[in-house]
Amino acid sequence: MNRAELETLKTEALAQAGAAETAAALEAVRIHYLGRKGLLPQIMKCLKDVPPEERAAVGQGANALKLELTAALDARLAALVGSQAGQATVAAGAFDTTLPGRWMPRGSVHPISQVIEEAVRIFATLGFTVAEGPDVENGYRNFEALNTPDYHPSLDDKDTFWLGDGLLLRTQTSPVQIRVMEQTPPPVRIVTPGRCYRRDTTDATHSANFHQIEGLYVDREVSLADLKGTLAHFARQMMGPEVKVRFRPHFFPFTEPSVECDFTCHVCKGSGCRVCKQSGWIEIAGAGMVDPRVFRKVGYDPEAVSGYAFGMGIERIAMIRFGIPDIRMLYDNDVRFLKQF
Ligand code: PHE
Repeated sequence: MNRAELETLKTEALAQAGAAETAAALEAVRIHYLGRKGLLPQIMKCLKDVPPEERAAVGQGANALKLELTAALDARLAALVGSQAGQATVAAGAFDTTLPGRWMPRGSVHPISQVIEEAVRIFATLGFTVAEGPDVENGYRNFEALNTPDYHPSLDDKDTFWLGDGLLLRTQTSPVQIRVMEQTPPPVRIVTPGRCYRRDTTDATHSANFHQIEGLYVDREVSLADLKGTLAHFARQMMGPEVKVRFRPHFFPFTEPSVECDFTCHVCKGSGCRVCKQSGWIEIAGAGMVDPRVFRKVGYDPEAVSGYAFGMGIERIAMIRFGIPDIRMLYDNDVRFLKQF
């Protein structure tokens, strides 16, 4: 192939494109010149055999021809469809412009992801940024730095997936608190969504693999009232303006005082029903003021700063928000279920 031959080829190709009378004929021209085994790809493949002084010109010419021919084919197709001959082609059944377009199946965002996105958005309006940590943690960050002694029952093989070498699948998102405080001086204001793992037997409300979103706020003079205000704001944004929150005293090794936070039941609005076991309340989060021992582990001065932390189950919120009766539905990946959200 040399420049002159390429010119001839070009004249031929463009003439054929211009002369095609049907879509099928156009397609044949396209395949002949541009198809995978067409003339132009072959030229490109054999460029190394072109005399060096012509190689660049032939390469560029072939590329230009590719573009020009594609445009000519498109233009011819448009003209055919618009012209009388084109109408005849349509009538002959080559094109049926009344056929519906191809149906593209539409995906949807998984309810767990939706809740995470919404929670992150709500906390972002309060100045929280997202921090993440790995699913595989060491025992130090998952337990010890969180003031959880090694005789605590949650360290047991029955509850925790140990991987060997002191590593485990994190049982909570709280180790991300440690990671962040180890690396950043106060103030800190983060939320950390992520997967957690516990050796729970799966049933309608338990799964060995679930998600939490953790919050941590450390600054001067942070109080339990700040925690309650934050969670109440989150509850109203997530569940609707009528929802109320309450704190019950509780115990976590890494917070003091510790609370569990309940939202009023979304089904009965607090009057008592089957979903809330007649209590009118649904447990949503564990929370509390960061224990001074945790601050000391990460090198913060508990005399200078205080902070609150909370952790809540994403699945629980998704089930309430969307009225999902069984946690396993969130993991079955049944498209008929998923596309409802
Ligand atoms: N990590 C606790 C849990 O999984 C929840 C929690 C987080 C409690 C932060 C207090 C503070 O149960």
